[in-house]
Amino acid sequence: MDFSKQKNITIFSHPLIKHKISLLRDKEASTNKFRTLIEEIAMLEAYEALSDLPLKEVDVETPIEKCKSPMIDGLKLAIIPVLRAGLGMVPGLDALVPSARIGHIGMYRDEVTHKPVPYYCKLPQNLQERTCVILDPMLATGGSAVDAVDMIKEKGGKKIKFLCIIAAPEGLEKLATTHPDVQIYVGQLDRELNKDAYICPGLGDAGDRIFGTK
Ligand code: PRP
Ligand code: URA
Repeated sequence: MDFSKQKNITIFSHPLIKHKISLLRDKEASTNKFRTLIEEIAMLEAYEALSDLPLKEVDVETPIEKCKSPMIDGLKLAIIPVLRAGLGMVPGLDALVPSARIGHIGMYRDEVTHKPVPYYCKLPQNLQERTCVILDPMLATGGSAVDAVDMIKEKGGKKIKFLCIIAAPEGLEKLATTHPDVQIYVGQLDRELNKDAYICPGLGDAGDRIFGTK
């Protein structure tokens, strides 16, 4: 698949995103540094991915006069991290849209089959009225992302965006073809998956590196 021709895929080229992803890959990066970089990259990606957020006119009184002025309708946004690693991206979006609702989808990959195992799902109400932004730094086989979108659609979600930091070609193609209506935003497209379904060169296990676990 030629990803550059796909309307539902954005692969970022901004130098700040590229630079921070290189810092993130470094196996010597501390937990604290890793977490900060994930937040910063998420914020940079969100700046672009949220460029079509709905605005509403509000009354504002300036020192000169009263006027109507546009503001983000934050109640129309649902931020949905995929646990655990997606949690690391939440502060980056929360800083931009603090009034957004936040849902959670819990799933982990089975170590042998590499298939996602769901264990939790709590989403904001009236999903059909919201822009749903799924957060997960890693898009590897694509199994977790496809299932997360399925869960959101089952609860009524219609306008869905998926933000990741590193993607493998295999997972990007799977998500883009299974859910062509979902807008996918990728910080960096990597080479391939290895036999353990880890992204190469990747950054290792994102959840473990964000939370300092093994
Ligand atoms: C990672 C990552 C994604 C998933 C991607 O989570 O955060 O959710 O793997 O892999 P896939 O595209 O092949 O499905 P993991 O299963 O390691 O869970 P964790 O975040 O709780 O460690
Ligand atoms: N999940 C991760 O955290 N890293 C990978 O490379 C693949 C899946």
